[in-house]
Amino acid sequence: MLFSIEFETQELYLLKTAVIQAIESGFRQIDTAAAYKNEDQIGDAILDVTSRGIVTREELWITTKLNLDVGNREGVLPALQESLKKLKLDYVDLYLVHSPENLALIPEYDYLSVWKGMEDVKKLNLTRSIGVSNFNSTDINRILANSEIVPSVNEIEVNPTYTNSEIIAYCQSLNITVLSYAPFGFMVPRPIESNITSTFEDPVLVRIAQKYGKTSSQVVLRYLIDLNTIPIPRSINTQRIQSNIDLFDFRLTQEEISSINELNRDVKVYNFDQESLAIFFDYFGL
Ligand SMILES: NC(=O)c1ccc[n+]([C@@H]2O[C@H](COP(=O)([O-])OP(=O)(O)OC[C@H]3O[C@@H](n4cnc5c(N)ncnc54)[C@H](OP(=O)(O)O)[C@@H]3O)[C@@H](O)[C@H]2O)c1
Repeated sequence: MLFSIEFETQELYLLKTAVIQAIESGFRQIDTAAAYKNEDQIGDAILDVTSRGIVTREELWITTKLNLDVGNREGVLPALQESLKKLKLDYVDLYLVHSPENLALIPEYDYLSVWKGMEDVKKLNLTRSIGVSNFNSTDINRILANSEIVPSVNEIEVNPTYTNSEIIAYCQSLNITVLSYAPFGFMVPRPIESNITSTFEDPVLVRIAQKYGKTSSQVVLRYLIDLNTIPIPRSINTQRIQSNIDLFDFRLTQEEISSINELNRDVKVYNFDQESLAIFFDYFGL
């Protein structure tokens, strides 16, 4: 398992094909979520590649996330069972709490109670591992102080203009693997405005790309790997899917990593206030 490709697009009919192409191109991790409403199509793609002998189920690493409308321990098992049914799987490899925030505004939300439910489904072997997403150090500490199982993963936004280095360092000090979402930051079109300029033509990226005979997008993904995180790019384009995994014949120097770190502007693509959420849900047709 190297890294993942995930999709949350309104064009779901493209999704099954893109997931199949991704797996045929060498991707082994697929990241989805109940909230993306695409687990069915991902399940169809997995069935396709495993039934054709392209990969076995065991060679894949399937991640999904708890639905946002679950706010307590009791809700976790039925939510995972529902996801497994859509994915047409007996187990997932990683199950994540999507956010510490009560994004669905449900009464009596408590992610600590939710985490107890995550521990339950891990013990039932319905998931090989459990983790969190969008958790800060305070949220993580609350889990650590009150739980049996340490999250194996924290999936957070990381890209050259949002390097998120403090929380990466904190997670890594606890052996919590960081999955880097939105790896291309504002270098690709987004539904929200930003006052920062971020582009694949950035001279820092272009210089490094030319040195290794790669593209700036590959340099960005390699940068995230060289930070010891796992980038999870999303693409429905055959050429870009293949480019996004062609990353393992070069490695950045510490100096190159530092120069990309300097592009940081501390500006996130994904904010989780109700207004931003509405824009993203609309954009992705959810
Ligand atoms: N846990 C969370 O709360 C959370 C939040 C946000 C995202 N995520 C996960 O992270 C994944 C990635 O984040 P994201 O959706 O923001 O995606 P991203 O990978 O940063 O950006 C996707 C966009 O980049 C384009 N693209 C892909 N590869 C490219 C390349 N090599 N060169 C130029 N453009 C390229 C894609 O277009 P084409 O399809 O046309 O190639 C698409 O428009 C999501 O799918 C999701 O699973 C998780």
